[in-house]
Amino acid sequence: MKNLRSRHYLAIPILVVLLVSASCKRKEYTTGEEVWDGECVKCHKLGGSGGTKGPDLTGILQKKDENYVRTYTQDPRSIKTDGTMPPSKISDHELDLVIQYMKEKGRNLGQ
Ligand code: HEC
Repeated sequence: MKNLRSRHYLAIPILVVLLVSASCKRKEYTTGEEVWDGECVKCHKLGGSGGTKGPDLTGILQKKDENYVRTYTQDPRSIKTDGTMPPSKISDHELDLVIQYMKEKGRNLGQ
């Protein structure tokens, strides 16, 4: 009986740690490049490199309205109901950073 109870004393802190770490949000990205590399590059190209599941986004902010790009990033289905891009779970600040990054990349490539 004593053994069983001491095992419970161990189980409770472990459970607490697990619950806390599961409910903690991931660390915020601090630069646009980090957001891009973490959330977008696996599907989109920018400046020649990246994934091909989605369209090449090089110069997108030179071609399309910024609000369109913002809305598409956060809630693609509201624009293209039959699209396959998943909504990006990034904060408003991270969205600002990645929009700025895409703008600069496009500009540097002279588009
Ligand atoms: C799992 C793959 C995937 C990821 C991750 C992804 N996208 Fe997409 N994205 C797509 C696909 C596929 C499309 C084409 C339209 C559709 O199916 O929704 C698209 C379309 C877009 C468009 C519209 C392009 C146009 O020409 O109209 C924008 C803007 C965009 N994505 C931005 C982003 C940004 C910014 C990120 C990262 C925060 C991101 N996407 C992450 C797959 C992805």
